[in-house]
Amino acid sequence: MEELKQAILNKGVVLSDGVLKVDAFLNHQIDPVLALQIGKEFGSRFINSRITKVLTIESSGIAPGLTTALELKTPLIFARKRKSLTLSSNLLTAKVHSFTKNETNEITVSKDFINEGDNVLIIDDFLANGEAALGLASLVEQANATVAGIGIVIEKSFQPGRNKLEEAGYVVESLARLSSLVDKKVHFLEEISE
Ligand code: G4P
Ligand code: NA
Ligand code: NA
Repeated sequence: MEELKQAILNKGVVLSDGVLKVDAFLNHQIDPVLALQIGKEFGSRFINSRITKVLTIESSGIAPGLTTALELKTPLIFARKRKSLTLSSNLLTAKVHSFTKNETNEITVSKDFINEGDNVLIIDDFLANGEAALGLASLVEQANATVAGIGIVIEKSFQPGRNKLEEAGYVVESLARLSSLVDKKVHFLEEISE
């Protein structure tokens, strides 16, 4: 997606540890025009998938999740991250381990909002190791609903997330795929194969 690539090149900052900082338009300050374009792009990629709900995770998934849900005319649900392991009878829960942060969070969604028969599109801002997306997919499946696909704004293709998700059988659509962040430079996957 060209507008997203331009934002990454013009406003992204590569940190030395293989992390792309996108606080200027996605993770802290949000560019609402770009967010709407992102929603339209996910919408067009999943227009024929009969999506009934969009599911993301707080906080950075909410903006692209909202614009995607707006485009597909569905509700948006965002999973909450919980520090405590307090149980509640009305929650779907999954454990998500972050290799980046070396911590495990329990993510939760109320059973009220994902129902049997729902066809759910999962949206997230980044795909690195795939743990967040797998946790979200687990929530959907616990509700006897279907994961229609996983939409990612920025995929770090040099990390194992996409392979893990595809091996688990999920359809993954990423709007920008980064092949490398070495030498503080952004390389997109398409550039390699051309
Ligand atoms: P995983 O879900 O793919 O396994 O990712 P990981 O645990 O490695 O990521 C932990 C957090 O860091 C997630 O945000 C994820 O979106 C983010 N992240 C991963 N790689 C990058 C990167 O290169 N750049 C940026 N900016 N973020 C990255 P989070 O903790 O859930 O935070 P937020 O949604 O509240 O912002
Ligand atoms: Na994030
Ligand atoms: Na995220």
